[in-house]
Amino acid sequence: MKKLLLCISIGLAACRHDPLIPGGGTPNPNAPVVTSQGCHPDTVYFENTILPLLISNCAMSGCHDAQTRADGINLTTYAGVISGGEVKPGKPNESDLYEKLVEDRLDKRMPPPPYPALPADKIALVRKWIEQGAKNNACNDTSACDTLNRGFASNIQSIMQAHCVGCHGANNPAAGINLTTLSGVRTVATNGRLVGAVSKLAGFVPMPPAGNGLSSCHINQIKAWINQGMQP
Ligand code: HEC
Repeated sequence: MKKLLLCISIGLAACRHDPLIPGGGTPNPNAPVVTSQGCHPDTVYFENTILPLLISNCAMSGCHDAQTRADGINLTTYAGVISGGEVKPGKPNESDLYEKLVEDRLDKRMPPPPYPALPADKIALVRKWIEQGAKNNACNDTSACDTLNRGFASNIQSIMQAHCVGCHGANNPAAGINLTTLSGVRTVATNGRLVGAVSKLAGFVPMPPAGNGLSSCHINQIKAWINQGMQP
């Protein structure tokens, strides 16, 4: 209230230039607000879910990655998603990002052919995130990381689906690596490239190529699955 009165008394223009960070400095528009109380099952988090999904399905080289920025749009940061995707918090139907995903006209749809449309469950996540305010949020999963008896279908496949298959899909996969099937993942697991890339080890191209990468829990589950014999 005090701040509001101050704004009115000294004029709005002055308030616009108030530093958002105490002591001054430029606020980082891409720094998420992290919830420390674990992940709420009904909240869709930008960092945990939406950003990996956009990086995998929209930020391939030649598209909306930081280097190419097709149409000036970079979908590898929060600021880029909000401005480039013309996201209106609370209003998916007025947000370009959502409209492009559900577009019927193939020449307007994203991702464009020959890429397939995003599956309905992923589109629903984008919709829900916008409905929930399109916040720059993140959560730390506080539950223990389960690395016992890992299986492809019960664990590894969903990690690949969320972070990798937009680029490493069945059709024309990046680097010829198809991560939609057990045999495709086993191939790169066996030759060491999978762990090298997701752990960002020297001598490997870091994967995914943008964003924060996989969580340490997901990396540990992949390593455990390999050590346990890459079970289906
Ligand atoms: C935005 C697109 C994109 C995403 C998302 C992506 N990749 Fe890649 N991946 C590539 C490209 C392009 C290459 C080839 C890079 C090169 O050779 O410079 C590659 C190469 C690789 C390699 C070979 C690396 C090496 O050094 O030999 C592995 C393994 C790999 N990806 C696994 C993954 C996994 C696992 C994920 C998900 C966690 C993932 N990728 C997500 C595009 C992507």
